[in-house]
Amino acid sequence: MEKKQYYITTPIYYPSSNLHIGHTYCTVMADAMARFKRLTGYDVMFLTGTDEHGQKIQKVATEHGTTPQAYVDGVVAGIKELWKTMEISYDDFIRTTEERHVKRVQELFRKMYEKGDIYKGEYEGWYCTPCEAFWTETQAVDGKCPDCGRPVEKAKEEAYFFRLSNYQDRLIELFETNPEFLQPESRRNEMLSFARQGLEDLCISRSSFDWGIPVPLDEKHVIYVWLDALSNYITALGYPDEPEKYNHYWPADVHLVGKEIVRFHSIIWPAMLMSLDLPLPKKVLGHGWILLEGGKMSKSRGNIVDPVKLIERYGVDALKYFLLREYTFGQDGLFTNEVMLTRMNSDLANDLGNLVSRTTSMIEKYNGGIVPAAGKEEGTDSELKQLALGTAAKVEAHMDKFSFSLALEEIWTLIRRTNKYIDETSPWLLAKDEANKERLNTVLHNLAESLRIVSVLIQPFMHSTSTEIRKQLGLWFADPEWADTQEFDVMEGEQVKKGNAIFPRMDIEKELAELEAMKEPEAPQREYPPIKDLIDYEDFAKLDFRVGLVQSCEKHPKADKLLVFQIKMGNEVRQILSGVADCYKPEDLIGKKVIVVANLKPRMLRGLESKGMLLFADNGERFEYLTTSAPDGEIVS
Ligand code: MSP
Repeated sequence: MEKKQYYITTPIYYPSSNLHIGHTYCTVMADAMARFKRLTGYDVMFLTGTDEHGQKIQKVATEHGTTPQAYVDGVVAGIKELWKTMEISYDDFIRTTEERHVKRVQELFRKMYEKGDIYKGEYEGWYCTPCEAFWTETQAVDGKCPDCGRPVEKAKEEAYFFRLSNYQDRLIELFETNPEFLQPESRRNEMLSFARQGLEDLCISRSSFDWGIPVPLDEKHVIYVWLDALSNYITALGYPDEPEKYNHYWPADVHLVGKEIVRFHSIIWPAMLMSLDLPLPKKVLGHGWILLEGGKMSKSRGNIVDPVKLIERYGVDALKYFLLREYTFGQDGLFTNEVMLTRMNSDLANDLGNLVSRTTSMIEKYNGGIVPAAGKEEGTDSELKQLALGTAAKVEAHMDKFSFSLALEEIWTLIRRTNKYIDETSPWLLAKDEANKERLNTVLHNLAESLRIVSVLIQPFMHSTSTEIRKQLGLWFADPEWADTQEFDVMEGEQVKKGNAIFPRMDIEKELAELEAMKEPEAPQREYPPIKDLIDYEDFAKLDFRVGLVQSCEKHPKADKLLVFQIKMGNEVRQILSGVADCYKPEDLIGKKVIVVANLKPRMLRGLESKGMLLFADNGERFEYLTTSAPDGEIVS
């Protein structure tokens, strides 16, 4: 029988710095859902990736003294490594700098332009640089960005616009008639009233920076990041030039996104698709944020929780379980080390860990490590059996609603009930009398069966733990199948082998103290050199600064630290040497505007003449060139 398709996506992350635990939350949920769908018989496409263009990325790259491409290549390699460590089972990883994406986005732009939905105009608005978002007067309350709260600034430029206003009525209709489209409900109401207030056309190009996909036929503009980014969901499927995968998987079953980007996914993205005459995704799901006691996690606050460190200490599955179990989908939740450790200890070490070690050790001890056949059924056994057989359906029902936490709670109800079954039946007492052998076998058998079902149920959430439990139960020869949860009496003769504790119990107090000690020390306050003695204006006026354009740049043949520049200043081109070879490769600076001290007396540096000096900011460790958009030759005063 042909499988039903299921297409799930995460947002594509900004590779401006390494990802933190908040980012992994979304990807862990998407991974669990993708694995769950595969296990329950779907043909799954799970897409993730990185959103690599835009002013913010260009800015951080410059701050790091490198090119945007080199910068994102480094961060993206780290992100892929993280997903590998976390066993994230994505089917494709799209980078917006990839050729396949770039050419397809240009094609989409062209199609929307030809449709009459894109026009050229002038944009003036309140712009938040960190969020790369323009806001209207009403949105930017008190001159602050409504998303991040940082100050916005007035910006104006020639730009291309998308006729979002054309789609206002259809969007309102979408929210009103299709409540499934956007969830949770609170977000749908928010977006509905946002759309009802009136949708302004959207600025979709920028010309004040160049790190982006060029607008076709007007390369002075680059495509504004959200149009570029949102398109990834179909460019990754090959739309429009290689539509095979697109035809197979589109429309997406679900776009999983954080609450602050719901607006882009439920208004702009559907309007783009309407303009392209393409079907809309079936669902946009907005999840809540993981917060710290002081509020948001952010690099500038220095309170990032690094998933790599937690994984090194507690393992991938413990972290995944914690994220999926602790937080309620759609709501914000608080992260503290204590909450995390308490959850891991009680659910993983105590409940699951104990069940695995008690079951395997008792089968080893009382039956030579062989799972016995089923014996006679009795009262308590049938209750356990019914619970075990009924859990899968409950898990499915919760997963349908993305209630990961409730799905896991159902599984843990079975785990706890099975642990209680051990206490009720006391196999160690049964083992004392040979007359109880049949009853003992039944108990051991039922324990193995229950644990086998647990191993299938947890597979989407804790892949490696599931494999480990199956190995210990002697089930290594078969991959779990969802249908296995519907049978109870299938085990007999498997060779059980107890392993190390799958989740060792932790001393929370000790662990908390160690985590505290691991905290990165606050960055020491920098010492700035004192300001030099005052000078007269006449002295300053003697300096002649000019705007220069780097026409060429190469290494000094005899001095490693020196770069040799040919700088164009209006009608003149002159050679200037600068000691910044440790910070820049020659090709990084070609084409850049720089500030030149133009009336310094020429100097010979290792055999080459330098006629002037270039200005760089110097933090003691690296140089950063000073730049301007003014034409070369112009006076700087
Ligand atoms: N590049 C855009 C998305 C484009 S999708 C076409 C972007 N990137 S992001 O890296 O800033 O954020 C990616 C996702 O991480 C968002 O869904 C955001 O909600 C999520 N999270 C970032 N910090 C988070 C928490 N502290 N908690 C939960 N998720 C959070 O936006």
